[in-house]
Amino acid sequence: MSRPEFLDIPPLVGTAGTVRLPGSKSISNRVLLLAGLCAGTTRVHDLLDSDDTQVMLEALRALGCGIARDGDGLSVTGLGGRLVVREARLFLGNAGTAMRPLAAALALLSATQGGRFELSGVPRMHERPIGDLVDALRPLGCRIDCLGQEGYPPLRIDGGRLALDAPIRVRGDVSSQFLTALLMALPLVAQDRELIIDVEGELISRPYIEITLALLARFGIAVRRDGWQRFTIPRGAAYRSPGEIHVEGDASSASYFIAAGAIAATGEALRIEGVGSASIQGDIRFVEAARAMGADVREEANALIVQRGAWPLRAITLDCNHIPDAAMTLAVMALYADGPSRLTNIASWRVKETDRIAAMATELRKVGATVVEGADFIEVAPPARWRPAAIHTYDDHRMAMCASLAAFNPLAGGREPVRILDPRCVGKTFPGYFDALFGVAQAAPSSIPVLTVDGPTASGKGTLGSALADRLGYYHLDSGALYRATAVAALRAGLAPDDEAGTAALARCLPLRFESQRALLAGEDVTDTLRLEDVGNRASQIAALPAVRQTLVELQLGFRQLPGLVADGRDMGTVIFPDAALKVFLTASAETRAERRHKQLISKGIPASIQALCADLEARDARDQNRSIAPLKPAAEARLLDNSALSIEASVEQVLDWWESVQPFGAS
Ligand code: C5P
Repeated sequence: MSRPEFLDIPPLVGTAGTVRLPGSKSISNRVLLLAGLCAGTTRVHDLLDSDDTQVMLEALRALGCGIARDGDGLSVTGLGGRLVVREARLFLGNAGTAMRPLAAALALLSATQGGRFELSGVPRMHERPIGDLVDALRPLGCRIDCLGQEGYPPLRIDGGRLALDAPIRVRGDVSSQFLTALLMALPLVAQDRELIIDVEGELISRPYIEITLALLARFGIAVRRDGWQRFTIPRGAAYRSPGEIHVEGDASSASYFIAAGAIAATGEALRIEGVGSASIQGDIRFVEAARAMGADVREEANALIVQRGAWPLRAITLDCNHIPDAAMTLAVMALYADGPSRLTNIASWRVKETDRIAAMATELRKVGATVVEGADFIEVAPPARWRPAAIHTYDDHRMAMCASLAAFNPLAGGREPVRILDPRCVGKTFPGYFDALFGVAQAAPSSIPVLTVDGPTASGKGTLGSALADRLGYYHLDSGALYRATAVAALRAGLAPDDEAGTAALARCLPLRFESQRALLAGEDVTDTLRLEDVGNRASQIAALPAVRQTLVELQLGFRQLPGLVADGRDMGTVIFPDAALKVFLTASAETRAERRHKQLISKGIPASIQALCADLEARDARDQNRSIAPLKPAAEARLLDNSALSIEASVEQVLDWWESVQPFGAS
């Protein structure tokens, strides 16, 4: 499937319900590495399935770890400290949580056992510093070359001779991941000596070090900590698998829903499951910051219950060093505050997936905020006037998730949709983010956009509708399938074609569901049955019965859900969705349509004649056009598209051009 280029979020006005968080990225990748280094098998539950964990899993697999699905978990059989693969090229995407600790572990293993490894990533990964870690490892006798610019990946690790007599020093003021990497890797070589790591400079993002220490403890390694300057790995330390381990929900991911609740849970509360007061993640302290801005948050051990408290939110000034990732969410909450908010001590933002200070400043200005940025701070004042904005996401999952919160602007005097460019970048940590958001967000039904594709039988509405829905990230209603499913039910029940009351009664409680492009009638997959010619004929007959049409109206209206709908059929633009933002009337000559259907049938091994099909289509057109109820005709404002000579792609592009012309985003 093509990667959607954008996702438009309509103006949102509320939140309620329950959201279940995906596993924590920080915990997932640490657990995977530790399970991969220790002996034996570890069963991991609730692991995050995302881009960053995928690259870690791929790397471990390439290094010879055993990785297997195990019920609803994953089992990892580790190396037990012995390299089994001595030469590998590992591609680590943009996952700092994979690059840094794998570099340290492989450097130590290679220096003691030999082996040559290349670690690379996407271009942005090659701009993210790793020099402080390399500088810590080289004095220990590890041979590491930076293959591009010194201090940055890609890296080549190639043997060396371990010398652990000198003190181990690492800088702590650029990224705490360098210290994490050393803490996780050094137990590999602590069999016969105690190892002391001294941190140079002020250690940032300390809560992440706490996660590292907590997980090392689960794997049998008790690191001694003296303040935040010195860490001691005891002599004889050895990884021991806990056998079984559960990954908590991601506290940074929780921040978007805590914010959504603080902004928009005005009635029922929003329940967030997966993290709570028992969390070992530092970002759980985002809760305190959100409370300071006015959020009403109750904590259970493994859940958070959020409601709007103060409104507008209270502006804050906060040192965010302890919650660097979640602090981005505060910058967006600041859009809804009673004055300018200032987030300080966030220099690390500049070396993350993108330069997050610059990115946040640029994008928040687009929605109308006034933003001041400095080397290590950002100050955001809420918009005086909200503007519709197309938000660049810089391949940064957090930019995309943060920006989505600007869609609640109707609660602060706006009424603007928000366009998220490259929305799939959320896959780094939260592939189902937008589904989760739309599962708890509310919008006025009339503000949920609808694009209708009406037209005669076999004009290609279904194919066009489905392709458009893919590109826009919208739901797709193939209304013909509803008539066809009713026809199947009627044929099976032995009803006469003109049994209006009987057919309407069947339609009223039609047990029809759509699941990943399949149609299920009472649980049975009827996708292919729906396409049969006798089913189509019966559908067209019962579609002329007013009681049947009336019954199916509610069902069709129910498809108008966030973030939007592409609806195709005979009367989508004229009757069901008269307020659709764009109406397309799709046609093709009867001959072209008969040829297309002929090709389809033959490819399925069903014999057919073009002449008979053509006559059939013309008869069906006549019936659809001349019936007294909802006759087939273009809506007054519909754009006509004759696709007789157009490819599907060309039709899709044409409709997307029209769609763009009715959107408010312009060229941002
Ligand atoms: O589009 P499709 O061929 O699947 O539709 C089957 C029949 O259902 C059509 O021939 C048409 O008569 C009827 N229909 C309708 N209104 C819709 C969709 C389908 O009358 N919105």
